[in-house]
Amino acid sequence: MKGIILAGGKGTRLYPMTKAVSKQLLPIYDKPLVYYPLSVLMLAGIRDILLISTPSDTPSYERLLGNGEEIGISISYKVQETPKGLADALILGEEFIGKDNVCLILGDNVFYGQNLTAVLNRAAERKKGATVFGYPVKDARVFGVIEVSKDLKAVSIEEKPRNPKSNLAVPGLYFYDSRAPEIAKSVRPSERGELEITSVNKTYLEMGELYVELLGRGMAWLDTGTPEGMLKAAEYVEAVQSRQGFYISCIEEIAWRRGFISTERLAEIGERLKMTDYGRYLLTLARGD
Ligand code: G1P
Repeated sequence: MKGIILAGGKGTRLYPMTKAVSKQLLPIYDKPLVYYPLSVLMLAGIRDILLISTPSDTPSYERLLGNGEEIGISISYKVQETPKGLADALILGEEFIGKDNVCLILGDNVFYGQNLTAVLNRAAERKKGATVFGYPVKDARVFGVIEVSKDLKAVSIEEKPRNPKSNLAVPGLYFYDSRAPEIAKSVRPSERGELEITSVNKTYLEMGELYVELLGRGMAWLDTGTPEGMLKAAEYVEAVQSRQGFYISCIEEIAWRRGFISTERLAEIGERLKMTDYGRYLLTLARGD
C-alpha cells in the first residue's frame, strides 16, 4: 500500500500566516502540521509515501522530511503546478501508485483516538474498492457528506450540500484500489472549478464499491482551517501530551514502535534534539524509562 499526502493549496483562509509559508508547515503546538497526517499513514503501516505540494513549498518539505530514510520510510515529492482539486493528487500520483492500493490523506487533517490504528488497518486490508470515513459533526454543510443505511452501506455522497442528508462528514482520508487514478482522470471540474475527491468517491459508490467506516465519539478529527481551529487543535495536543506524557503524532516514536528504526537510531535523533522537550521525550523512550 502506498501513501499520498496532499500539502498544496494557497492557504488563503489563513492569510497572512500562510503568505510566505505553506499551511501544513505551520505548527500545531510543538510540531509542523504535516507530521499529523504523516503519522496516520505510518500507523496504517505505510512506508512508501509521496508528498505533493506547490513549486515554491516543495523544497521546504524536502528540508523538513528529507527522503524519510532517517525514520525508516521512503518519501518522494511531486510538484503540483496549480491547485486543481483533491482528485488531482491521484492523477499526479498515478505512476507512483502503479498497481498498488493507495491511501490519500490531506496535509491539514489531524486525527487522534484510541482505535485509530484498528480502523486504519480494516480499511487497508480491503483489497478492492474505496473506503471513506464518516465523522459526526454539528454542521456538515462545509464538508463532503456521506449518507449510510442501517447496516452501514453507503447510500449517497455529496460535496458541501446545502441540505445535508446526514450529519456524517467525510474527513480527508481515503483508501483506494489502483483504479483510482483512472477514475480521477474521468472527473469533470465542479462548479467551484475543482476536481472533487467526492466525484471519485461517487464513482466507486455507483460501482457498488464504496465502503464506509465510522469514526466514533472517541475519535478526534480536528479542524485546522481557521486560526481558531489551529489554536484549539494546539490546545488539544498540549493538554493530552502534558497530562499523559505521551506525544501525539511523534513520527520518530511511531517509526520505532513499528520497528521501522532501531532503539539506537531513536536515541541518535533524540540526542540531536535534546535541547527540546521533543528530543528529551525520544531519549526517554529509547532508555525505556
Ligand atoms: C475537502 C473535501 C471535502 C472533505 C474535506 C475534509 O474540502 O472536498 O469533501 O470533507 O476536504 O477536510 P475542502 O477543504 O476542499 O473545502
